[in-house]
Amino acid sequence: MAPLPSSILIVGSGVFGLSTALALSTRPSFKNTRITLLDRSPFPSPDGSSIDTSRIIRADYSSAAYASLAASAQETWRQQGDSELGGQGRYSECGLVLVADKGKQGEKYVRESLENVKNISASQGVGLIQELKTRKEIDAAVGTGGGSGDWGYINTVSGWADAEEGMKWLRRKAEATGRISFVTGQAISLLKNGTKVLGATLKSGPPLLADITILATGAWTSSLVDLRGRATATGQVLCYLPLSASEQERLGKMPVLLNMSTGMFIIPPKNQILKVARHGYGYSNPTSIPNPSGNGEKIDVSIPRTTLDDPTLWVPREGEAACRQALREMIPELAERPFTKSKICWYTDTPDGDFLIDWHPGFEGLFLATGGSGHGYKFLPVIGERIVDVVEGREIGELRGKWRWREKKVENVVTEDGSRGGRPGMVLEEEWRKGSKL
Ligand SMILES: Cc1cc2nc3c(=O)[nH]c(=O)nc-3n(C[C@H](O)[C@H](O)[C@H](O)COP(=O)(O)OP(=O)(O)OC[C@H]3O[C@@H](n4cnc5c(N)ncnc54)[C@H](O)[C@@H]3O)c2cc1C
Ligand SMILES: *[C@@H]1O[C@H](CO)[C@@H](O)[C@H](O)[C@H]1NC(C)=O
Ligand SMILES: *[C@@H]1O[C@H](CO)[C@@H](O)[C@H](O)[C@H]1NC(C)=O
Ligand SMILES: *[C@@H]1O[C@H](CO)[C@@H](O)[C@H](O)[C@H]1NC(C)=O
Repeated sequence: MAPLPSSILIVGSGVFGLSTALALSTRPSFKNTRITLLDRSPFPSPDGSSIDTSRIIRADYSSAAYASLAASAQETWRQQGDSELGGQGRYSECGLVLVADKGKQGEKYVRESLENVKNISASQGVGLIQELKTRKEIDAAVGTGGGSGDWGYINTVSGWADAEEGMKWLRRKAEATGRISFVTGQAISLLKNGTKVLGATLKSGPPLLADITILATGAWTSSLVDLRGRATATGQVLCYLPLSASEQERLGKMPVLLNMSTGMFIIPPKNQILKVARHGYGYSNPTSIPNPSGNGEKIDVSIPRTTLDDPTLWVPREGEAACRQALREMIPELAERPFTKSKICWYTDTPDGDFLIDWHPGFEGLFLATGGSGHGYKFLPVIGERIVDVVEGREIGELRGKWRWREKKVENVVTEDGSRGGRPGMVLEEEWRKGSKL
């Protein structure tokens, strides 16, 4: 990045875009740079991936590099003062039970993860990590009468965050700098002169011009730049149900339970709402759009479809059935309680689950900060700083290589990071045709 930019436009105010805006506004190199943060929805974006009741905060990764970055993020999550990130109930360290049946999908991930968190725990002197070697041990650790399976471990220093409240905290911090202009509007395309990106054109009003444009548009990024073979939007199922006050009291004390053999997980309830979800291969939503490169061809890409597009949207029957099955196994007392809300939340998936944080090699002035691959939220306190490091060309070690724009494309992006459950290759419309609502 030579010379210092006089203006930077960030498109997308999720965890990637908002944390980038904050990091830019606090770095001396950008003290004279105008920083604009654009989002199509007023904050908090109702269908953004960063906005939800809860997100798992764990250093439990099979990759040592992500485990270590997550452990450093967690140090900030653990700060419990009212004005600090983890305060006012934004973070709860209730422990994580991570399981995978022996010989089944996910076992390798969980074994490698166990090694990584043991190592982190040894070096930081925190935590209690205990291997769970039988169904009985799993049952005792989960405490809901739903401990099944034959192998896993509990990490008592992992937990979960109130995702929306965490984002509101970040937004307040970003506003307090007084450096960022927040604009509501939808970018419909990049504004270009040849191969130079000059900003973005909006659905209404004049274009926004900038020396550097950073796309942090999450699962929608494929509608602004051609990411075929590198990243794709996959829809993930979530189902919610109401609890009584006494159930909240009791289940509020359970650990997070994540089954890497199925991808199914349950996060402790809050405000009498319990969520059951799947960290899976997800659904694609193939949509024919004009190639954003502007060469006139039509291309098929997966584009999110959310309750903003269709307020009555309900997950396909297949997804609800998976959540139902998980509930029966994990919290048997709620086995037949109906779900009152469901949601499809969109991952921006890459082939290896690595983020995509790099300059676009084909367009001058265009930077990508996306590819969250279903695990980006926990990095809220650190990801913006690392993104700006890459913008500035600073050394960040091994992660730089992982986050790079890959010259080689794959035929179909299917995330194979060892953590996904469900079935690869599901298409949203096809699953809906088989039925919705159980
Ligand atoms: C169901 C689910 C569960 C998850 N669980 C976890 C977890 O337990 N732990 C964890 O760490 N991570 C988890 N993740 C992943 C994490 O939430 C994401 O990696 C992260 O939120 C991605 O942030 P983002 O900023 O890339 O995207 P987003 O938060 O989606 O932000 C993109 C923003 O861009 C805006 N936008 C899009 N197009 C345009 C446009 N054309 N013009 C203007 N604005 C636009 C959108 O309105 C949106 O606000 C989960 C994700 C999902 C979906
Ligand atoms: C263990 O942790 C140390 C310090 O954090 C790190 O340098 C080392 O590479 C880690 N080892 C493994 C096997 O992950
Ligand atoms: C995890 O999934 C496997 C495979 O379906 C299952 O056998 C096991 O009981 C599950 N464990 C938990 C704790 O849900
Ligand atoms: C587009 O780029 C060309 C070549 O660099 C330059 O001469 C021209 O002024 C540019 N046009 C605009 C509108 O910036």
